[in-house]
Amino acid sequence: MNIIVINAAPRMETGNTQVILLPFVDGLRSTGAQVDLVFLNRLKIERCCGCFTCYAKTPGKCVHTDDIPELMERIRVSEALVLATPVYIDGMTALAKTFIDRLVTFMDPHFIEVDGEVRHPLRWEFPNKIFLVSVCGFPGVENFDPLLLYMKRMAKNFHATFAGTLLRPATFSVLMGRKYPDQVQAVLDAVRAAGVEFACDGGVSRSTIEAAAADICSMRELVDTANAYWDRELQKSKKSHL
Ligand SMILES: Cc1cc2nc3c(=O)[nH]c(=O)nc-3n(C[C@H](O)[C@H](O)[C@H](O)COP(=O)(O)O)c2cc1C
Repeated sequence: MNIIVINAAPRMETGNTQVILLPFVDGLRSTGAQVDLVFLNRLKIERCCGCFTCYAKTPGKCVHTDDIPELMERIRVSEALVLATPVYIDGMTALAKTFIDRLVTFMDPHFIEVDGEVRHPLRWEFPNKIFLVSVCGFPGVENFDPLLLYMKRMAKNFHATFAGTLLRPATFSVLMGRKYPDQVQAVLDAVRAAGVEFACDGGVSRSTIEAAAADICSMRELVDTANAYWDRELQKSKKSHL
């Protein structure tokens, strides 16, 4: 199975998105899946300007000259697309959305009816599975609700199956490995298992999803630890401005 994994976090290797993505990709690869891991922030990606040139004037060709055509070639040969994005103000990163908007070049301008809704047909092959990996700072999987709804609708736009999610809230607590080594390890093990399941079964079981999102510490401890961290950072910056 060819899987393209798109990391849409601006912090790339240094962020929590990648902390979660690494064991997931390790799980995918352990099954023999071919994984093409892309860091969007390393690419030149212009914003869609909505000119529709790619619809009719130069069908399938955008006015921008950047890294998107080459990335689209890599998407076309993939059977699954995994989008990994942190939650930024209840949605995906601007980087992720800029990338997705540019995929409009995949669409033929005609309208067709699909399951009682209207869509565009696609010009080229698109991965038939879309999967979401996401992390967020606050505890509670409800923080992913708007993003989840978006991904389900987006999959319909690309005539793909929304193949599920791997969600890790309270990312701060994943960094508490020294205090909670067993809990953190259990989360990372579940994330890796999610990679194996997705590659083998095309989806991830509820028990694995829940284990990956499990609380590592209480909400009270998370709040106190986060506040103590930010107080220290604020103190440091006060001192450096003296
Ligand atoms: C601009 C911005 C907006 C954010 N908005 C939310 C939010 O609405 N809800 C939330 O739970 N976390 C939010 N966060 C926290 C991030 O999801 C969290 O820090 C995540 O680990 C960032 O991913 P990264 O570590 O890969 O950079 C936000 C972070 C940033 C920088």
